[in-house]
Amino acid sequence: MSEPRRILEMNAFDNRQGGAGPVARRLGNLGAASVLFYRAPIEMMSAQGAWMVAADGTRYLDFYNNVPSVGHSHPEVVAAVSRQIATLNTHTRYLVAGVDTYLEALKARLPSALSNVVLTCSGSEANDLAMRVARQVSGAGGFIVTETAYHGNTALVTEASPSAQKRTDPPAHVVTVPAPGREAYGDDIAGGFARAVRAAMAELDARGIGTAALLADSIFSSDGIFADPPGFLRPAVEAVQAAGGLYIADEVQPGFARTGSAFWGYARHGVAPDIVTMGKPMGNGFPMAGMAARPEHLAAFCEDTGYFNTFGGNPVACAAGLAVLRVIEEEGLQENAQRVGARLKSDLEEIAARAPRVAAVRGAGLFLGVDLCAPDAPDTPDAAFTVQVIDAMRDAGVLIGAAGRYGATLKLRPPLCLSQAEADRFTEAFAGAVLP
Ligand SMILES: Cc1ncc(COP(=O)(O)O)c(C=O)c1O
Repeated sequence: MSEPRRILEMNAFDNRQGGAGPVARRLGNLGAASVLFYRAPIEMMSAQGAWMVAADGTRYLDFYNNVPSVGHSHPEVVAAVSRQIATLNTHTRYLVAGVDTYLEALKARLPSALSNVVLTCSGSEANDLAMRVARQVSGAGGFIVTETAYHGNTALVTEASPSAQKRTDPPAHVVTVPAPGREAYGDDIAGGFARAVRAAMAELDARGIGTAALLADSIFSSDGIFADPPGFLRPAVEAVQAAGGLYIADEVQPGFARTGSAFWGYARHGVAPDIVTMGKPMGNGFPMAGMAARPEHLAAFCEDTGYFNTFGGNPVACAAGLAVLRVIEEEGLQENAQRVGARLKSDLEEIAARAPRVAAVRGAGLFLGVDLCAPDAPDTPDAAFTVQVIDAMRDAGVLIGAAGRYGATLKLRPPLCLSQAEADRFTEAFAGAVLP
C-alpha cells in the first residue's frame, strides 16, 4: 500500500544514519534542520549552463534546477550583480533608479490591474504577505489549498502547506482539496476540482471562518505536476472570486517562462489572479521574490499594518532580476522551453509506452512529471522504485527529484537553456533506468 510522503522527505538523506567528512560537518552545524538530497549526498563545487560539477570531478546534467533557471552562473546575471554590488547596495528606503526600472520591466509581464509589486527575499515571505492581504480584503480567514501543497516556511504559510506537516492536520482555517488529476476527478478535472473547491468554501463557511483565498501553485509542483487540460482551474477560481474570496496564483515554481506556452503558469488556465506571488527563478540564484497585487488591496492592508523588508528588492536583487528578464527575452528561453519541452515530453511518452513501470507523463514546457508504479499496475505508485530510478540516474550523471502525494512522481525541471542534445542525454539515461 502506498503511503503519503512529505515534500522534504523525498530523495532525502536520512540524518539519523550520521556520516563522515563533509556530511558529519554539515550535520554538526545544522543538526536536525539539515536537509540533503540523496542517500549519499553530493558535494558540489561549480556549475555552468545545465551542468554541475561535484567535488570528485563528476559532471552532472541538472534536471532538478528551478533556481538558476536561465542557466547556472549565467555571465550576464553574474556581470549585472557584480557591477551593482561594486557600486551600491543598501536597504530599501532610498530612491534607486534601477529598482524602479526593474519593477517596470516586471510589471510589463503582469496583468495591468496588478500594478503594485512588493519585493521580498523568499517565496515564503511573498505568500505570507499575500495571505495577510487576502484576509484583510475579504474579511474572511480561511484558505483552500491542495492536499500535497507546499507554499513556504513561515508560521502562517506552513499551516497552508500540508506537505510540510509531519504530524499535524491542517488547522481549522485551512481546508484541502485533492490535486487536479485523474486519480481524484476522472475525466472531468475542471468540474471535479470546482466541486471540491466549492465544498471547501462551504466547509469554511460552516466553521464560521469564510474563504479568504484559494492559494494554488499554478503547476501543482509538489502535488505531482498537473497542467492539463488547459483551463481546468477556471471554474474553481471563478467560484471563489464570485463569493468574495481572492485567488492567489503561486508562481514560485512555474513562473518566468518555464511552462513554455506563457510567461506565467496561471495563463494556461485563462484565469485572472487577484494576487501573483513569485520567487525561485526570479534572480537566477540571487535570493529574491515578490507579490503583485491591486493597489487598492495593498492600500487596504497597509492601512492597518506596516510592511517593510530590509533586503527585499535591494539594488543588487533588482540588477539580478533585470538581467534574468533580459536573458529570457534575448535568448528566446520561453520558446526554447516550449520546443525542447514538447519534444522531451513526447520522447518520454514513447518510452512510457514500452516501460511497465512508467504510468504517466504530464506537464508543460520544461516542467514535467513522470509517475512511476509497481510493475504493470499503473494505479499503484511506487516510491521505492522512484528512489531507485533517482539513484540510477545519478549514476548515469543526471540529477532529478521526486514529488507527488506518494513520492512516486519524478519531477523534471532542467534549466530553460536546455539544448536538444542535453534533453536527449536525459532521455537515454531515463530509458536505461526504467526499461526492462
Ligand atoms: C510553490 C511554492 N511556493 C512557495 C515556495 C517557498 O519559496 P521559498 O523557499 O523561496 O520561501 C516554494 C518552495 O519550494 C514553492 O515550491
